[in-house]
Amino acid sequence: MATDIVILAAGKGTRMKSSLPKVVHRLAGKPLLAHVVDTASTVQGVNIIVVTGHGSDLVRKSISNRSICWVEQSRQLGTGHAVLQTVPHLQANSKVLILYGDVPLLSEQTIDDMLAVVAENNLALLTVKLENPGGYGRIVRDQAGRVTAIVEQKDASTAQLQINEVNTGVMAVDSGALRRWLPKLGNNNAQGEYYLTDLIAMAVDNGYHIATLHPTHPEETEGVNSLDQLSRLERYYQRRVAQQLMTAGVTLGDPDRFDCRGTIDAGMDCFIDINCIFEGKVSLGSGVSIGPNCQIIDAVIGDNVSIRANSVIEGPVTIGRDCVIGPFARMRPGTELQEAARIGNFVETKKATIGRGSKVNHLSYVGDATLGDGVNIGAGTITCNYDGANKFQTHIEDGAFIGSNTALVAPVAVGKNATVAAGSTLSKDVPEGSLALTRSPQRLVQNWKRPVKKAVTE
Ligand code: UD1
Ligand code: CA
Repeated sequence: MATDIVILAAGKGTRMKSSLPKVVHRLAGKPLLAHVVDTASTVQGVNIIVVTGHGSDLVRKSISNRSICWVEQSRQLGTGHAVLQTVPHLQANSKVLILYGDVPLLSEQTIDDMLAVVAENNLALLTVKLENPGGYGRIVRDQAGRVTAIVEQKDASTAQLQINEVNTGVMAVDSGALRRWLPKLGNNNAQGEYYLTDLIAMAVDNGYHIATLHPTHPEETEGVNSLDQLSRLERYYQRRVAQQLMTAGVTLGDPDRFDCRGTIDAGMDCFIDINCIFEGKVSLGSGVSIGPNCQIIDAVIGDNVSIRANSVIEGPVTIGRDCVIGPFARMRPGTELQEAARIGNFVETKKATIGRGSKVNHLSYVGDATLGDGVNIGAGTITCNYDGANKFQTHIEDGAFIGSNTALVAPVAVGKNATVAAGSTLSKDVPEGSLALTRSPQRLVQNWKRPVKKAVTE
């Protein structure tokens, strides 16, 4: 079955009180429209058509690396008019599913259900029953319970306003019907708009059967019209990810203080304390423990790693098993820790490979460097990797000991089991097994008299 999915995203979103087009606002770190496009993309061989209008350029730029047919609706004359713009891009004899760029959480399951129903019936309509149906189009049924029309709130009679079954806006129908009927829509209604919903009465007149179905979760069809609604959908989404993790065996300090803005997978017996944020693609082995307030982006983290409070990992970063990170560590792109390495507080790493069991425990910068196994880097050590124009490498071999407060002026290499005395500034290589010491000798002045404060005379 050829499938077209049309996503309407031309509206401005006045109630967002924002200069950005509504569908560019983010949920779980991803533009609203990208959520809809990504879910739609799960349908095999689908042709995705997105209608933009307000802020088209920004909307298109907000979504990259996705295969989309963009269609411009320069004036927003109604939902029916919006879908009409897509007609030249619909496939012949396809089923067309119509979605909304500001309804981000519609599930794959509901999309599959809609497509299954439209394959069997003439027109599929997604509806929900609401205690307070205010603002929505109402589903009008005849005495036999068959859908006969949708009437918009502003056009509804007093009796129709009592109907609590409403239109979610999501419908599916064959492309031939859209081609025939959309040009016939009028705008003689309370809002002077071309209503897509008027298609229902046309379909009924043409002998179509209207099949209705409901989403599994009511939040799926909730639209975002304000920042308040956006925040509620965000919490709903995060709670769902948290539940999936707990089901997979992850203990969360508090599922209401957990944020994933990408994807995360985890082995068993992991613990994630409160206020951690995960971005991009994060993979945790088993027995990983993450302290409070950590930000972790694009990282592969091995078994039994412990990441202590307030650490920031900006990947791509790979951390081998049994490593201990933080508290207050910052790992930048290109850091690779081999097993049981230790990165302590106020340590920054970048483009650095740190060998097995090596330790950088306090207040250091290690950038553009390779460290072998069992290396010890004393507190306050800096790799001086940048001369203001170019970057240079530092190599430290297995078992080397770098004393505290050493400056390694790259390019420089320290051999196996070499020792560098504290406070040294290294600009030449240190051969295997030797001691390098560049600090000036200590001088002593006996019985030193400290200066005393002069009396103030005025
Ligand atoms: C629409 C439905 C209503 C349904 C409700 C669900 C119609 C006429 N009404 O009403 O039955 O209960 O959604 O939320 O369809 N859009 C365009 N171009 C336009 C107009 C709208 O792209 O010219 C897009 C908007 O960006 C938005 C969506 O279509 O994403 C819905 O438009 P909106 O004006 O919010 O329709 P409602 O009045 O809410
Ligand atoms: Ca709406």
